[in-house]
Amino acid sequence: MKQLLSLVLFGAAVAAAASAAGTDGEISFEYHRYEELRKALVSVWLQCPTITRIYTIGESFEGRELLVLEMSDNPGTHEPGEPEFKYIANMHGNEAVGRELLIYLAQYLCNQYQQGNETIIDLVHNTRIHLMPSMNPDGFEKAASQPGEIKDWFVGRSNAQGVDLNRNFPDLDRIIYINEREGGANNHLLQNMKKAVDENTKLAPETKAVIHWIMDIPFVLSANLHGGDVVANYPYDETRTGSTHEYSASPDDVTFKSLARSYSIYNPVMSDPHRAPCRKNDDDSSFKEGITNGGAWYSVPGGMQDFNYLSSNCFEITLELSCDKFPSEDTLKVYWEQNRNSLVNYIEQVHRGVKGFVRDLQGNPISNATISVEGIDHDMTTAKDGDYWRLLAPGNYKVAATAPGYLTVIKKVAVPYSPATRVDFELESLIERKEEEREELMDWWKMMSETLNF
Ligand SMILES: *[C@@H]1O[C@H](CO)[C@@H](O)[C@H](O)[C@H]1NC(C)=O
Ligand SMILES: *[C@@H]1O[C@H](CO)[C@@H](O)[C@H](O)[C@H]1NC(C)=O
Ligand SMILES: [Zn+2]
Repeated sequence: MKQLLSLVLFGAAVAAAASAAGTDGEISFEYHRYEELRKALVSVWLQCPTITRIYTIGESFEGRELLVLEMSDNPGTHEPGEPEFKYIANMHGNEAVGRELLIYLAQYLCNQYQQGNETIIDLVHNTRIHLMPSMNPDGFEKAASQPGEIKDWFVGRSNAQGVDLNRNFPDLDRIIYINEREGGANNHLLQNMKKAVDENTKLAPETKAVIHWIMDIPFVLSANLHGGDVVANYPYDETRTGSTHEYSASPDDVTFKSLARSYSIYNPVMSDPHRAPCRKNDDDSSFKEGITNGGAWYSVPGGMQDFNYLSSNCFEITLELSCDKFPSEDTLKVYWEQNRNSLVNYIEQVHRGVKGFVRDLQGNPISNATISVEGIDHDMTTAKDGDYWRLLAPGNYKVAATAPGYLTVIKKVAVPYSPATRVDFELESLIERKEEEREELMDWWKMMSETLNF
């Protein structure tokens, strides 16, 4: 991952942005082409420099940067115990609403933070938030270049090589479905395969960059923003049997439903039970309360959502935000109003379930320890500092921490809706245990010897 963009890169942009941003922090509801997107992000950075950072995770096929705006009280660092969140939009280049909403969200969070909004200050201080307005900047430029208000339904969907990025991720669903039947890992299915990813010529540069991003940062929660319908879609996206429509529950089905619902509930259009389908012949029969299982709607192999869940600790859902993929500019404000509370509330979901640290008896962090929950066949792992997050719907659970060479510890935990319950684990190493047992045996032997006058 590249560090902060050099100021040289921005030169002119910085000067232009400073005047565009102003000090009143107004949001400008308009489309942003590539250069304008950069400027908009830079102006947020200039307005809120202590809580933001701009970085790039790589380049598109045509060399545009995959820009990310980070918001946190310590931009640039993972703070032990603080969960990481991401939004990715515009992976289909012609689905433009999400791209704009993430720019407005960045402006909104910065403005509210400065105005002293406690909710937003708490969120920024306790969460590391990453916003990527466009995963497919080449596709967007192509879609936006079409003359007139009405855009073609497909132009700009794929990247510049013609690759549909949401079909381009390694198909880990096929592996998990085999493992479910025959045994095998239930998480981190790409473990130790970074090299294979780099050498795979079928992966688009945008896909590769995002795969590395997912593997490098301990993300906990994410959403990927699309357009063309209005619903919050949750895993699995690919069906078990390969049939086109089939409910495809993941081990975290209950939690995923709750997460998807936390988005739809604040969006009056998405949650409207009487909303007519976007187009007369659309089959929305799997939609309920504004959410749908991915496979039940239609099967998607090689998608980013399931990849997040199966390759990392990150839970991702897919948000469809508008019937029109590229609606006219004067409707953007309405989309912002429909989605603002949902966008903020969904970030807050990262503070649910169980979280804490796994350490040894001396207090040293144990990274890559396994956190498992009885009854849910999908484990998490601890990050570098021994910190972990395990999203869960409300309920009573048995949570276990395991690491090679240590004794497993199991704890009973009551989980409310929120906030997350803090549960730390101290694991005794098996070597220490053997040493203790040996000492106990020696003491016993000594006592026996003394008693019996050997
Ligand atoms: C603070 O932010 C929250 C979350 O976006 C919002 O609901 C609330 O209205 C804001 N408060 C004020 C005073 O603007
Ligand atoms: C993490 O642990 C798993 C199994 O416990 C192991 O296969 C994997 O190589 C470990 N990863 C790292 C980065 O140490
Ligand atoms: Zn899409």
